[in-house]
Amino acid sequence: VLSLFPEFFEPFQTAGVVGKVLSGERKLGQWSVELIPVQLRNFSLGHYKSVDDTLYGGSAGMVIRADVLANGIQWILEQGEYQSREDLEVIFPTPRGPRWDHDLAMELGRSHFKPQGTCFSKDLVFICGRYEGIDERFVQKYVDKMVSIGDYVISGGELATMVMVDGLIRLVPGCLGNNASLRDESFQRPLLDYPVYTKPRVFEEMEVPSVLTSGHHKEIARYQEQKRLELTQKYRPDLLAD
Ligand code: ADE
Repeated sequence: VLSLFPEFFEPFQTAGVVGKVLSGERKLGQWSVELIPVQLRNFSLGHYKSVDDTLYGGSAGMVIRADVLANGIQWILEQGEYQSREDLEVIFPTPRGPRWDHDLAMELGRSHFKPQGTCFSKDLVFICGRYEGIDERFVQKYVDKMVSIGDYVISGGELATMVMVDGLIRLVPGCLGNNASLRDESFQRPLLDYPVYTKPRVFEEMEVPSVLTSGHHKEIARYQEQKRLELTQKYRPDLLAD
């Protein structure tokens, strides 16, 4: 991840279940995932060591320089055992891209998953924009994929990168007890989850649905399936329409 604020990723790399995966404390079966935030300033050029500059055309604000970003890509290529630039998939989080959703996550997951192998076919490089954006020439020459996390603007690509990485890690078989493979069709059904309950059994006069305490596993499964449909119909009918 090339970013002007790599510190954004510190809690992400330690907290919660994804943090455990990224810190190596939790293994994903035969897989491991490494996230390496890199300070973009390391690749600044020239006397003033700047990473950004004013916009051509006169508008206010600053733009991240294409040469600095390209320097970052070059440095990454020198770190790994890469044959060529093709071994990297450069992803630019931007409102310009197609919207990040389950299908896009599956597509990215699949294209980087060698079913018979043990490693991802390419390493992903996330470019975190800031300020008014990044020079368009870098986008044209280096960016393989643009992705938006929604139709709104946030102040940089870091949060968007974390949204995507978190979602991707959850798709990996073995993560969070999820043993569904990336090719398992049932795993793709775009339904909401069923509602969940825990103790106490009675909370403010509301009881846990009795079927859940009945011990009938088949009935429980049927109930939960039914609830998934109901909740989706009620809250996200658009998912069913799709
Ligand atoms: N950077 C700023 N806004 C964004 C968005 N909606 N999606 C991805 N990256 C962004």
